[in-house]
Amino acid sequence: MAGLEGKVALVTGAGGMRGVGRATALKLAANGADLVISDVRREVEDLPPAEVRMEWNSIQSVADEVRELGRQCLPLYADLGSSDQIQEMVSDAVAHFGHIDILVNNARAIIGRDKVPVTELEEEVWHHFLDINTTAVFLCTKFAGREMVRQGNGGRIINIASNASKQASATGAAYSSSKFAVLGLTQASAMDLAPHGITVNSVCPGPINTDRMSYWERSQAQDRGITQEEFRAQIVQQAGESTPLGRIAESEDVANMVAFLASEEANFITGQAYNVNGGILFH
Ligand SMILES: NC(=O)c1ccc[n+]([C@@H]2O[C@H](COP(=O)([O-])OP(=O)(O)OC[C@H]3O[C@@H](n4cnc5c(N)ncnc54)[C@H](O)[C@@H]3O)[C@@H](O)[C@H]2O)c1
Repeated sequence: MAGLEGKVALVTGAGGMRGVGRATALKLAANGADLVISDVRREVEDLPPAEVRMEWNSIQSVADEVRELGRQCLPLYADLGSSDQIQEMVSDAVAHFGHIDILVNNARAIIGRDKVPVTELEEEVWHHFLDINTTAVFLCTKFAGREMVRQGNGGRIINIASNASKQASATGAAYSSSKFAVLGLTQASAMDLAPHGITVNSVCPGPINTDRMSYWERSQAQDRGITQEEFRAQIVQQAGESTPLGRIAESEDVANMVAFLASEEANFITGQAYNVNGGILFH
């Protein structure tokens, strides 16, 4: 599925070595798009162990890979908790390339501190999840959407939501609330932007085989006397066994859906929320 030649895509949260953001950036680049990729600067203790071990250099490493595919890439550091930094990220992207055609809202708050019963959930953690997982999606949509409207060539906005946008679970109050909200934002934005030929859709993955940082997984591993990666491998295996298709998603499975929604073939689809979950949830 080529066809993105001449398009510029902005992907947030794209610095992870095995994350959905990187897979999406590489897929869109392979389909012909030039890329703006962004991420927050993270402390070493907030990185997955494999990224530290392999001296992975976040969006700089991903930018090298995009360029190896023959596409242009602008890596930009931005903390999506800051409205000013979001606005600056969008204006830097436009100043560099002259336009933005595709926005992929992929970043999310580092998980783990939210994974407690609602009665134990710190207000600060709640607000952080809403800030990064919801408000930042709104602000990126607002500022990049304005550019797309100004350009007058339509556009694509794709929000990475979650299974947890449709089905909450225990100890998931902050995460699920932040991700349910993304679907409401997707529908309302789709209606606001439809007259401009800009489509807005969500992708709702089930569990993905990433090595994302999770403070909860790190502390559970410590309690069991195993490494964080060993504990993570157990989760991946168990989740795969309870999935009808017999495995959990790879980041590329999600990137494939994003690439379709970004393509010309998807030009009559808007306001939708597509599951990529191997059959664990149907609505
Ligand atoms: N991994 C899963 O199992 C899973 C399941 C369902 C949905 N999702 C969704 O898919 C998307 C990608 O998941 P992932 O596992 O690749 O993500 P991840 O947990 O690795 O995080 C994505 C990126 O967001 C960045 N980020 C964190 N705080 C930020 C901030 N303040 N400003 C800017 N960037 C920030 C991180 O640095 C990271 O690169 C997310 O939206 C997530 O909610 C993931």
